[in-house]
Amino acid sequence: MSTTRLTIRRPDDWHVHFRDNDMLRAVAPCTARHFGRAIVMPNIVPPVTTTALAAAYRQRILDAIHEAMPGDSRFEPYMTLYLTESTTREEIVRAAASGFIKAVKLFPAGATTNSENGVRDMDKVMPVFEQMVASGLPLSVHGEVADAEVDIFDREAVFIDRVLDPLRKRLPELRIILEHVTSAVAVDYVQSAGHNLAATITPHHLVLTRNAMLAGGFRPHYYCLPVAKRAEDRSAVRKAAVSGDARFFFGSDSAPHPRQAKECAKGSGGIFNAPTALSCLAGVFEQEGKLEHLESFVALNGPAFYNQPAATDRITLFRQEQPLEFPHRIPTADGPVTVFDPGFPLHWQVEDHGEPE
Ligand code: NCD
Ligand code: ZN
Repeated sequence: MSTTRLTIRRPDDWHVHFRDNDMLRAVAPCTARHFGRAIVMPNIVPPVTTTALAAAYRQRILDAIHEAMPGDSRFEPYMTLYLTESTTREEIVRAAASGFIKAVKLFPAGATTNSENGVRDMDKVMPVFEQMVASGLPLSVHGEVADAEVDIFDREAVFIDRVLDPLRKRLPELRIILEHVTSAVAVDYVQSAGHNLAATITPHHLVLTRNAMLAGGFRPHYYCLPVAKRAEDRSAVRKAAVSGDARFFFGSDSAPHPRQAKECAKGSGGIFNAPTALSCLAGVFEQEGKLEHLESFVALNGPAFYNQPAATDRITLFRQEQPLEFPHRIPTADGPVTVFDPGFPLHWQVEDHGEPE
């Protein structure tokens, strides 16, 4: 008989964008409902470049969740520092001492949403990387070059070649998370790298190819960075995710943008998947016949790489013949935000507070 119920340790999300203010209040509860912890990306405006800014942002997140889910104080946001060419070693020491900052985020300048303050010249941040090794903070990486000459479908592979591999050779002790891998090249690279390198994988890159975004009409709600690639790439990413290999774990990259920023002449990259992410992952693991590895992907491999304990509480997923009905957009003060629809029926649901929803 096929599995219809699955109890696993409570999942964590190792890469999420919560934004700020009204948008934060609208989206953060969607993550807190299912996940125990999440690593919150620092690319808000202005970016979270100091420990003091991270502490204030963390409090705004806790307030937003408390307001939406009073009495539920389970969710823990983990923070990241936005690396700039002016980040100091002292700031890294402070960040590590804070206890709530778990990584420093490298955005190559120009690579993605709000990355203008990111890094242009890696030589300038080498002393900071050395301090991160000394202080035990890992580097979270948006792995794409922003070079206009490089084809957008090759930007991840070129980043590995030009930036990541030289950096790892220069400073092998630096622990690195290559975020949201999308290509067979990236998966192979992580698999061949040995220790100190891990990768996160998103629900949408397990599901989409560039055809889903581009063939038969452009679908802006499937546009995110790095962009989805060929079917062979998706297949490599899926294999890695369901393999149980401890170097691959879940990071949703849930990245909300209001409709007018997606459906326009120059749309922003980012897919908002927090409400459907777990159902979608369970569906993918089931399709691959690997439901037994879902727990390691969403709840064990991430904490292990970040040197955090695994969750002690559990959630139950159950399979229903009747597919999950989910809101296709959520209202926010900035306009509606489209929820990721993987394009297949979502049979798996999360049991809420012990009772099916
Ligand atoms: C993210 C965002 O909107 O903040 N966009 C995206 O396409 N994934 C930034 C990022 O993670 O690259
Ligand atoms: Zn992201």
